[in-house]
Amino acid sequence: MAQAPIVLIMGPPGAGKGTQAGHLVDSYGLRHVATGDLLRAAVADGTPLGLEAKRFMDAGDLVPDDVIIGLIRDLVAELPDDAGVLLDGFPRTDAQAVALDETLMELGRSIDAVLDIAVPSDVLVERLSGRWICRTCQTPYNVNTHPPKVAGVCDKDGGELYQRTDDQADSVRHRLEVYAAQTAPVAEYYRTRGTLVPIDGNQPADVVRAALDAAMQPVAT
Ligand code: AP5
Repeated sequence: MAQAPIVLIMGPPGAGKGTQAGHLVDSYGLRHVATGDLLRAAVADGTPLGLEAKRFMDAGDLVPDDVIIGLIRDLVAELPDDAGVLLDGFPRTDAQAVALDETLMELGRSIDAVLDIAVPSDVLVERLSGRWICRTCQTPYNVNTHPPKVAGVCDKDGGELYQRTDDQADSVRHRLEVYAAQTAPVAEYYRTRGTLVPIDGNQPADVVRAALDAAMQPVAT
């Protein structure tokens, strides 16, 4: 029997990774491992990881590779053999991509598909300026294009909606520069390995979802 898939979703800040992750997790039985969510939870809990990560995240910089690689090695090593995974926000540097491959190889596993969502920068800035997120389930909303039924309240679980500190315009612009310099080359790493699937993310969310479903067909068990 084929092993459950390991899938990466990548793309610049605001590309729609979090928006689409819920659908992929529900439809394909994947576990959602989002480094940004893990780091924000660590910051909120005031753990040593959170204290170290906070200053980088607030500035829109990447948290150093040694911190992130240790975190992801532990998470991947704990996965049951039969668990499919959606990795979101990782890897973000070539060093992280190499470390992930090594860790998976030790477990006899490998990446099945890399879903690479592309959206123009001006659209990303506009999207992130209107984003509100549920504190409880992390579902993203947008006051302009996808508002909640009741302002400030999550449709799914009634959780409080908040705006991320790194969604300020200056921080967003810096995050986009960091993405172009450090994370966009990771797409090339996967292109050369034949696992990269480009997705046009500058379309309505349901059209993007259909493109992701088509990309998942060859790897879904
Ligand atoms: P992370 O949490 O991973 O954030 P990000 O990559 O910047 O991505 P976002 O969560 O901002 O965007 P998204 O693509 O999920 O967009 P969304 O679906 O919400 O990382 C945050 C920080 O943590 C990093 O800066 C770094 O410091 C640190 N970090 C994390 N991982 C790390 C790593 N591996 N190494 C080092 N540091 C790390 O959508 C955005 C908005 O657009 C929403 O309002 C949504 O409603 C709307 N929208 C979505 N899709 C559409 C559509 N098709 N049409 C119209 N609107 C849409």
